Amino acid sequence: MAVFVKDKLFVLQTRNTSYAFFQDEEGILVHLYWGRKIADLQDFETVTMEGEQGFHPNIDKKREECSSYGMMRYKETSLKVTYADGVRDFRYRVKDWTAEGEHLKIVLEDICYPLRITLHYVVHEEEDIIEKWREAENLGQDNIQLEKIFSAEFTLPGEGYRSINCNGTWNDDFKPFEDTLCAGKKVYESLRGATAHVATPAFILHKNASEAAGEVYFGVLAYSGNFKVVAEQTPYDYLNVQIGISDTDFIWNLKGGERFITPCVYAGYSCRGLGGMSNLLHRFAHSCVMPQATKDKPLRVLYNSWEATTFDVECKKQMELAKKAAEAGAELFVVDDGWFGQRSSDHLGLGDWYVNPEKFPEGLKPLIDHVRALGMDFGIWIEPEMVNENSDLYRAHPDWIYRYQTREVLEGRNQYMLDLTNQKVIDFIIDFIDRLLSENEISYIKWDMNRALGECGCASLPPEEFKSIWLRHVQGFYTIIEELRRNHPDVEFEACASGGGRVDFGCMSRFDEFWTSDNTDPLDRLTIQETYSLLYPPKYMRAWITDAASNERRRVPLLFKAHCAMCGALGIGMNLNRINEADMELLKECVALYKELRPVVQFGRLTRLSTCRKGPVHALQYDKAGTAVLFVFLLLKERGKSIYNVKPANLEENARYRLTVDGKELIKSGAYLMYHGIDLQLEADFSSRCIRMDKVGSKDV
Ligand code: GLA
Repeated sequence: MAVFVKDKLFVLQTRNTSYAFFQDEEGILVHLYWGRKIADLQDFETVTMEGEQGFHPNIDKKREECSSYGMMRYKETSLKVTYADGVRDFRYRVKDWTAEGEHLKIVLEDICYPLRITLHYVVHEEEDIIEKWREAENLGQDNIQLEKIFSAEFTLPGEGYRSINCNGTWNDDFKPFEDTLCAGKKVYESLRGATAHVATPAFILHKNASEAAGEVYFGVLAYSGNFKVVAEQTPYDYLNVQIGISDTDFIWNLKGGERFITPCVYAGYSCRGLGGMSNLLHRFAHSCVMPQATKDKPLRVLYNSWEATTFDVECKKQMELAKKAAEAGAELFVVDDGWFGQRSSDHLGLGDWYVNPEKFPEGLKPLIDHVRALGMDFGIWIEPEMVNENSDLYRAHPDWIYRYQTREVLEGRNQYMLDLTNQKVIDFIIDFIDRLLSENEISYIKWDMNRALGECGCASLPPEEFKSIWLRHVQGFYTIIEELRRNHPDVEFEACASGGGRVDFGCMSRFDEFWTSDNTDPLDRLTIQETYSLLYPPKYMRAWITDAASNERRRVPLLFKAHCAMCGALGIGMNLNRINEADMELLKECVALYKELRPVVQFGRLTRLSTCRKGPVHALQYDKAGTAVLFVFLLLKERGKSIYNVKPANLEENARYRLTVDGKELIKSGAYLMYHGIDLQLEADFSSRCIRMDKVGSKDV
């Protein structure tokens, strides 16, 4: 049992944590505890210690589970509604609650208006995750405006928390930031209509946690649109954390009889530091979020021709690349942007999803046949939600985009965004992708999104609904991808938005992987990948070996680049027509090795042994069922030093492991490896190692 209710006390128990709240004497749901497991329910006391009364109303002192704007609340609140008569507060009583298995529902109803808010809690006991979301229901006739309805609210006791999030941009994804939260509010938000690069829809809060130790509270939002995370250090000795769909420029008109369901938040507590948090989330992502039908399928090594050819896609050249890609060991050949319509640059062609007859005079078939004859599968790039002004689609349907009718419409990457609140547009997109997938042997789609939403108006909705477009676009996007997955269950889908702009738990349940970043410089990538991995699993982290950085800013050896990309779902993006023989041999070796290590990298447990932000050595470990894989990167060689000691983790002290270090085979105990460590001879900047350790038995082997 995971949900316990006793009198007015509610306790959610996971394997290692407890989350408790109660209904106080005024009927308010008040948070009591979140942290390490307290198994004995009778220890929880359902009284609040509110201290001095003073001059001010004390509602802000209450650590609420569902604070709503109004009454005499002045803190950030997680719900705001406006009734038809202009009343703008939600005063509730707990009408009912049900606990069925792992699912607790608490029904709140306004004491005099027909609005019901249901708080949902699902306990993922084994995974140590608590899932929360909310549902609003208009029980009357008149419209109720939902101006803010976050998915969840959390309370952390005391002050002095540190908060980690990102502040990236295109080509600079997952740039980590950490601040101490003092007085006031810290807000992370996307207003771009997608998750975007600027922040990630999550909270990570701790006091003095390190990778391996300390308490961390975290939560991720399963949503791919405008989001907001607010952490407010109240004057009442607690931090109030809220997360959900952003309320900026948001109104949802909830008509009589209608329901509104928020996206969910997966939250947890780790007492094993940031590493423990990542392990919990990665495990949970695999068991409960990734599409069930494909989650256990290893991702293929892919070749993508984008960096080699950009828009200069042409059948014969792609065939040449495919030959080399197969030789290197790729299992999937992907043609990126440029194969359709009149797409010779990013100024034209988007929306015209027919195969370009000059580039592919006989359609895609000859290329696909060639790729398949080489033993690879075929994949292709699309950007379905967009249209260029210079396209047949836009000329035929100028009213299919978001815009204000009275203003000149703005472009982003020379393109407009299609209006997914219009069913005709949704049908058009599903239809063209269905046809593309039915008429061709395509087994992978890279779904891109290269501009942000703005000017949220459209021809298909009345003006009073314009503030709901942000959300409706995401709903349309989800509808399309869900229908396509149903229609084409064997096709693998990758989510991309100018790199990692759609990395979130909402896309995770609808896609098989993410394009992590357009930045493929291996050094940049290490920091990007490290921050990505805090919350998101390595299997979903597409990483390519490319030509980037070999001649611009720095020369990085191919081996280092390969090791960096082997830390996720390996891909190759090099121009293989220019590769020399020695590099081709090395590439082949790396791809072959990756295929052996893939079950451990894609499905194992990740440990960040040392951060790449502090250097000089960055080390990562993946382990699964007696095999551990170490990746070691020397970022900058120090003067007078060439031996670097790396200590693996999570080994069995008394077991023995076989490993090969710099050409020498060793058999050592787990204790020796973890406590003494492995000495590596790293002679130069950008030296790297990939070391596999296999358990060969116990002590006497
Ligand atoms: C975006 C993607 C790239 C590539 C280009 C094509 O930038 O992130 O990987 O597909 O678009 O235009």
